[in-house]
Amino acid sequence: MDLTVPRLGPLGGRIRVPGDKSISHRAAILAALCDGPVRVSGFLPSLDCLATLACLERLGVRIERRSATELTVQGVGAAGFREPTDVLDAANSGTTMRLLTGLLGAQPFFTVITGDSSLRRRPMARVAEPLRKMGAEVRGRAGGTLAPLAIHGGGLRGIDYRLPVASAQVKSAILLAGLFARGTTTVREPAPTRDHTERMLAYLGAALVAAESKVEVRPSLPLVGRRLRVPGDLSSAAFPVAAALLVPGSDLAIAGVGLNPTRTAFLSALERMGARVRSAGVREVCGEPVGTLRAIAGPLNATEIGGAEVPNLIDEVPVLAALATQARGTTVIRDAAELRVKESDRLHALAVELGRMGARIDERPDGLVIFGPTRLRGTRVTSYGDHRIAMALYIAGLAARGRTTIAEAECVDISFPGFDRLMQAATRR
Ligand code: S3P
Repeated sequence: MDLTVPRLGPLGGRIRVPGDKSISHRAAILAALCDGPVRVSGFLPSLDCLATLACLERLGVRIERRSATELTVQGVGAAGFREPTDVLDAANSGTTMRLLTGLLGAQPFFTVITGDSSLRRRPMARVAEPLRKMGAEVRGRAGGTLAPLAIHGGGLRGIDYRLPVASAQVKSAILLAGLFARGTTTVREPAPTRDHTERMLAYLGAALVAAESKVEVRPSLPLVGRRLRVPGDLSSAAFPVAAALLVPGSDLAIAGVGLNPTRTAFLSALERMGARVRSAGVREVCGEPVGTLRAIAGPLNATEIGGAEVPNLIDEVPVLAALATQARGTTVIRDAAELRVKESDRLHALAVELGRMGARIDERPDGLVIFGPTRLRGTRVTSYGDHRIAMALYIAGLAARGRTTIAEAECVDISFPGFDRLMQAATRR
């Protein structure tokens, strides 16, 4: 599907964005590990999160869809999962595949999990290896490194594992397996990554100790069923925030957004760029900080992004790159080679497609150098089937002269159903 970027007037008023993708996956999976029914509200009904629900259903978990965003998951505790009669399909979702591989590694039955052509190219050794160390049998293509993965689990023992890459998905997979394992499971991180799994596990009564760069979990199933409320997704809010910064005269508020400090490096980067972005009214909801963001249009300066902050803005690099084309000076993004193994090779996609619009970008092995500001021109670009590339190109299109058309834009529904509609509505308030 093609999406033509509309001419947006100033963005204003108060909007909400859909539920957090990372937290929605975790809410469904952890609810399944509880001792009875769990109500989940604010769930993100995007293709990725629906893939997680479908896989859980194939594992014998009953899920009642009360509305698009409200679920009741019938928790099955430690021993209630059933061997699926067919292959599990994680579709485009790395979080589904990696978190469920952790869960499946602990199940005393056979499962095969696969995904679409993008997911079948993404690295799975990082999750298979620690699970094998815990005692699970995990096989896959290319010497056990690529999906489809065939898993026969059960009888796990706790390990003390240092992650070779900073990945919340891998950390979470090991913690999920650790809930079922004998003894203590310890995960050490090279740099802090999003800690939603730890927060939700603690909220649901698991025996978990999280300290700086180290998490320990002991067997603690079933979890204690409590209502789970999913906040708005900061990674989705990043797009209307970026639009408000670029479109002159904008002053936009986004309410109910998750502001977990392991996710907010995007806001710190914007502050360094001189953006007028503030958070306010922060409170805790189900163990997660939630508040209102306000973004006001104004000039931007270049910044440097690298080191330990990268995992905490990894999904926002595409939109930051789009903004950097409009910022004064040279923006340098480094230590971000992980972007090459996301839904697409995001460094390459950004360099090529923003370049097509007239941006001056050097692609480096681990990042991008963006020379701004440049006058972008609308043209036909492609998303590479990657939702965050599609939305980043939309933001670039707002700053471009002439018409920008994004090919393969249906992928936006992977994380942000209703994106274009919401952006247009935000200009009419
Ligand atoms: C996620 C972790 C990150 C992120 C992804 C969601 C999660 O991936 O890019 O969109 O929910 O744990 P990695 O763990 O591969 O860094």
